[in-house]
Amino acid sequence: MLVFGATIHFVRHSQEKGKKMKDIIEVELKTRTVDPAKCRTDLLAVGLFSDAKGLDKLNAQLDSKLDGAIERLIKLGDFKAKKGASAIVYGNDSTVAQRILLVGLGEKKKATIETIRKAASNAAKKSVEMKIETVSLALHKAFGGRFDLSAMGRAVAEGVYFGSYRYDEFITESENGRADSLKAEVIDSDSAKTRTLNKGLLRGIAIGKAQSYARTLANRPANVISPPELAAAAKELSRDSKNLNCTVFDEKQMAAKGMGGVLAVGSGSQNKPRFIILKYNPASKSASRLPTIGLVGKAVTFDSGGISIKPAANMDQMKLDKSGGIAVLATMKALAELKLPVNVYGIIPSAENLPSGSSYRPGDIITTFSGKTVEVQNTDAEGRMILCDGIHYAVKQKCDIVIDVATLTGACMVALGKHKAGLMGNDEKLIKQLQKASKDSGEKIWHLPSGDEYANEMKSKIADLKNIGGKWGGACTAAAFLRQFVGDTKWAHLDIAGMDMFSTATEYSAEGSTGFGVRLLTAYLMNLTSKKT
Ligand code: BES
Ligand code: ZN
Ligand code: ZN
Repeated sequence: MLVFGATIHFVRHSQEKGKKMKDIIEVELKTRTVDPAKCRTDLLAVGLFSDAKGLDKLNAQLDSKLDGAIERLIKLGDFKAKKGASAIVYGNDSTVAQRILLVGLGEKKKATIETIRKAASNAAKKSVEMKIETVSLALHKAFGGRFDLSAMGRAVAEGVYFGSYRYDEFITESENGRADSLKAEVIDSDSAKTRTLNKGLLRGIAIGKAQSYARTLANRPANVISPPELAAAAKELSRDSKNLNCTVFDEKQMAAKGMGGVLAVGSGSQNKPRFIILKYNPASKSASRLPTIGLVGKAVTFDSGGISIKPAANMDQMKLDKSGGIAVLATMKALAELKLPVNVYGIIPSAENLPSGSSYRPGDIITTFSGKTVEVQNTDAEGRMILCDGIHYAVKQKCDIVIDVATLTGACMVALGKHKAGLMGNDEKLIKQLQKASKDSGEKIWHLPSGDEYANEMKSKIADLKNIGGKWGGACTAAAFLRQFVGDTKWAHLDIAGMDMFSTATEYSAEGSTGFGVRLLTAYLMNLTSKKT
């Protein structure tokens, strides 16, 4: 099957054999110079602020063509322009647009670039639900003075991909069906503006596509994606891009290298572990002036907990325990498409954590790739066991900066809820750069500690360290575990547990994988390479 221009091979178990799998929705996105009030389209999306006194120029123009329908809708209290709200007004001959979608932007003074991204998501989601062929998005004039046009173009594109995404490749019988593609355009009457918008839009398309790619891979269940399948997807990606090289170590090669952490976690499953390395080699010489970055992502294709088995409720969600690794994979895809001038390794240790006669056990002492020995106290703390090998590999490759991404701890969800990912690290500048990338990308993070007091909890009497700390602050002890494998290298850790999925659909998104991390990491790399910063 063809997804995002790349064939993805499935290992089909007997029940799936012969099933026709659907493609993911295709988005075609561009800019067009046209007066929004005179735009011929299936759906014209316009933004409104909740605290605006009266209609702005564009909405007033549309309203007069509609004999006051927008004013009436607002007066009746059916649409208050709150964040996430929307209402539809049907057009007439003079509006030219068949339908007008009023999109709530919330309070004007609180608007950020994320407001634009979310408004675009909202409009795109409604468009797919309504089987709209072409949606035209008009940016509110009030944004003009506040944000850079190209940043707005990027946010709109990211939003359109995010909102139109859905995961239905295994649904063979759908009641209402859905459109297979969506045409979207960002419109403005000024051609100079559409040109600048377009620059950002093209970047946003690369990022949006990469994020949707991540969401599909992550949403696929563990019987479809095992570590070897993930490795095959990485190989496929590298074949599509001449700047990406992919090396995969199988279990024998890992054994020869002493990657004891990944091997231990993978030992209980018939689906053997893999160690996936993608290297992005930029064409530009200017890359040599920048630090080499190592992105390390946890890809546990299913986390049952192993011998320290998890409770049954919601265990199915643990197919998403590969989300960190997939965020790295998709960031490499975005990087190659954006052709950023920076050297980057994408390092993805991948294993399936299952209980069986060959599983690793509580009490086992594992010699990790770094040579450090770890006393296993809980086989469900498996993420750190594979990440420590990944991080050590990045350090050995002489990466100047290592950033790991992982659905690492339930404790991080307890601390931050499902609103922000945990950010830990050993370098102030790197923390600040990631916080800036978070603002630019709309993927929220919160700085948490990971110092020696947490590391001390993991002292072992029979090995160099234990794989769990005490009862409290589990997100911080997990990070402190990883910190012991970075040496003097600058390092940051993103605990994305809870951020990896929406349990239910929202106004902005379908349920399932969020692709969290792709926008954040890509924004970090874009900022690093931009001449402005
Ligand atoms: N994959 C889980 C963390 C997780 C939990 C991610 C919920 C997303 C949602 C991780 O491998 C794990 O099981 N962590 C344990 C660590 C504990 C044994 C120290 C946890 O959080 O309970
Ligand atoms: Zn676990
Ligand atoms: Zn896990």
